[in-house]
Parts: sequence; structure tokens; C-alpha cells
Amino acid sequence: MADAPYNKAGRSNWAVNQDRLWDDLMALGAIIEPDKPYTRRSFSPMFLKGRDYLSRRFEEAGLAVSIDAGGNLIGRLEGTDPKAGTLMIGSHSDTVPGGGRFDGVAGVVAGLEVVRALKDAGIAPRHSIEVTDCLAEEMSEFGLSCVGSRAMTGSLEPAMLDYTGPAEESLRDAITRMGGRPEAIKAEARDDIKGYLELHIEQGRVLESEELDVGIVTTIVGITRIEITISGLPDHAGTTPMDLRKDALSGAIEVVGGIRDKARALAAAGEGYFVATTGEFYLEPNAANVVPGKVKLVIDTRAQTRELMEQFLAFAKAELPALAAGQGVEISELKILSDSLHTECDEGLGDLLLQASNELGLTSKKMTSGAGHDAVFFSRITPAAMVFVPCKGGRSHCPEEWSDPDQLAAGTALLFETLRKMDRR
Ligand code: GLV
Ligand code: MN
Ligand code: MN
Repeated sequence: MADAPYNKAGRSNWAVNQDRLWDDLMALGAIIEPDKPYTRRSFSPMFLKGRDYLSRRFEEAGLAVSIDAGGNLIGRLEGTDPKAGTLMIGSHSDTVPGGGRFDGVAGVVAGLEVVRALKDAGIAPRHSIEVTDCLAEEMSEFGLSCVGSRAMTGSLEPAMLDYTGPAEESLRDAITRMGGRPEAIKAEARDDIKGYLELHIEQGRVLESEELDVGIVTTIVGITRIEITISGLPDHAGTTPMDLRKDALSGAIEVVGGIRDKARALAAAGEGYFVATTGEFYLEPNAANVVPGKVKLVIDTRAQTRELMEQFLAFAKAELPALAAGQGVEISELKILSDSLHTECDEGLGDLLLQASNELGLTSKKMTSGAGHDAVFFSRITPAAMVFVPCKGGRSHCPEEWSDPDQLAAGTALLFETLRKMDRR
């Protein structure tokens, strides 16, 4: 690996150290649930072990390590000008169940490598630099994603702290368990961040198929998550005739099909990117000899424009109840768990990334992200931008997720150069 070219153009004079970056990623890829590669769920003991590793590496790099009120792990390098404010590089170290070794954690380790490279080059930045592992970016068991970035940017609504997860634990208590201080989240919302950068694997096939080194993100889709409860009547599966049952699962099948058909229609309409997924499904009592009494679904919908999302929400509220009623059951609750608008990344930072990318000789394109990212919340309080690096076959949220060491190093070199330009501005 040491002899590999840093990217296909064969440049090797970059400030960042590809092997050091890769070794940290692979070390974190080994801190996972033993029977479930490569799973490190937020709020789990394994997640805390991953953070122990990161904390040690932050300290070895000379960063001051802390956990903020929202449970984010931060490594801070003090700038030479106390009035300049903070430049942040962040992403997340949690994974989806059965996730991969790159989604999120690549961005955290890239941030760490940028700071190490600054030190190696003897550069003392004017701004303070923070490398941040945002808490629970992935949809958590509390029905919320981007918990830490919402908290840090003043976007975590107080009612969200009451969301409950396994064993009825509240999100408030879970954040405390991660070392956060939920009562201080509001007061400690940040106002000193002068810019935010995030490196991430693309999680799609565009860069690979066009053989490009990096993507510069312009727009991140809006994500709305909806929880739908369908209620019927649990009954004896042997003695309840077919025409007398209220089978919640039969209703749910219609609802799921209706969502799929509407999403296909919206996607085909040509008004922008739209997808909807019924990815969570809970059945009660989930027993072979009982007619299903209750089904809970969580729907994840993503849209490039608010108009598309509004069309889908109007459909869900107006037409899904009738689909359930057709099976003699009802939608007893339709709850919007979270609703974030699509995000435009900062144009000025995007141009700076493009300039640095050209100077490094990297091939690039500006592109939209269909995945959600912590950058969404940072963009509400500061200029924020993202760099995508290619990943094999576009695969993500699965164990097969992969990016080559030189692809990650190219993106990290771009972060390094762009951060330096931001520091000089
Ligand atoms: C984040 O991984 C998302 O769900 O887009
Ligand atoms: Mn993800
Ligand atoms: Mn991610």
C-alpha cells in the first residue's frame, strides 16, 4: 500500500499521509459487533469503544478532547488568533445495522489526518480547528438522526429529548449516557463556527462511473420521516373467519404498496429527485396463531424540492387512511418524526473546493447528495460544504462498502488545501 499512487494521476506530494489515514480507518473497522460486520450503532457500548480509540488518536495528535452538551466528541486545536473563530471538519462514527467501514467515519478520520498534516508541515492556523464526531447521524433507535449536529446548531427541539428508545430510555438520558449534558444544549449552541467541511463516501455510482476523483456537493436532499401506526384487532387465528377479522398487517400491505406507487409516480414526473422507503416494520403480537393487531411503519422520504415533499405528505394524509380502511382497519396515528428541508451548500466554499481541486490536479464535478449528512444542520449556522469520494459499485449501508486508500487520500488532501484557504480568508 505504501507504494500505491495516491490517485490515478499518480501524485504523491500531498501533505496528508495516506497510510496513517487508512490504518485508523481499518482499526475502527475492527471495533464492531463481533457477529455483525461492520456494525457500531450509536448509543451502544461498541460505539463508546470506537470513541475511546478516536479520543486517544485525537490526543496523540495534540488535540484537546471534549464531549459537548449534545454528546459530540470534539478534538480542538487552538488557533493563533483568539478572535478568528473556529473552522470545523466533521462527520460521524456510528453506523447503520450491518453498515460499512467508511460511511461517516471516513470523514472523522480525514479531519484528524488534516490536523496531523498541519502539524507535520509546521502550520499554526489562525482559526481554531475542531474535528468532530457528531453523535448519532444515522437514524437512531430513538426515531431521530443527526442528533449531535442538531444539538450543536440549535436545531434539536426540546420535545425530541423525550423521544424514547429501547427499554423506554429517553433520548435525554441516552445523550447523558454518552457524556453529554442535555440541559445545557440550548445554552451551548455554537455561534463561533466560521465554516464547516465534511468528507464522505459518495454512496452512489456517479463518481466511479465517470472516473472522477471527487464530488463537490451543491444540494443535499430534504428528508422527512413518518411513523404510521395501523390498528386492527388481535384475534384467534383459528376461530376468526376471514370476513370478520381486522387484520392490521393486511392494511399495512396496502399502505406500503400505496407509498411505493406514489413514490414511483413522483420520481417519474421529472420535477426532481424523489424516493420513499418503508424501512422499519413492527408487527404485534407477531405470533403465528394470532391475527395481527397492530403494525408500526417508519417511512423515509427524500426530495430535491419542498414541492415534491409537500405533494407526498398531502397524499399520505389524504389517501393512506382509505387504503387501510379498505381492509377494515385504521391508521390510528400518522406522526412526522422529523422534517428537514433540502439544503444548498455554500456556493463560496464550493468554489474554493473547486479551485483547490484544480490546483491539486484532481478531476471533479458538482453534484447533489441523495443521502443526509451532518452538513445539513451546520449549513443553518455557517458556510458548509462537502467533498464526496468514490466508493466501489456505489454500495453503501452494507458490509461491502469500500473506497480505495488513494481515493480517500485524494479527498483528504482536498480538505487540507481548502481548509488552508479558509484559514487565510
Ligand atoms: C444517512 O446515512 C442517510 O440515511 O442518508
Ligand atoms: Mn449513512
Ligand atoms: Mn454518513
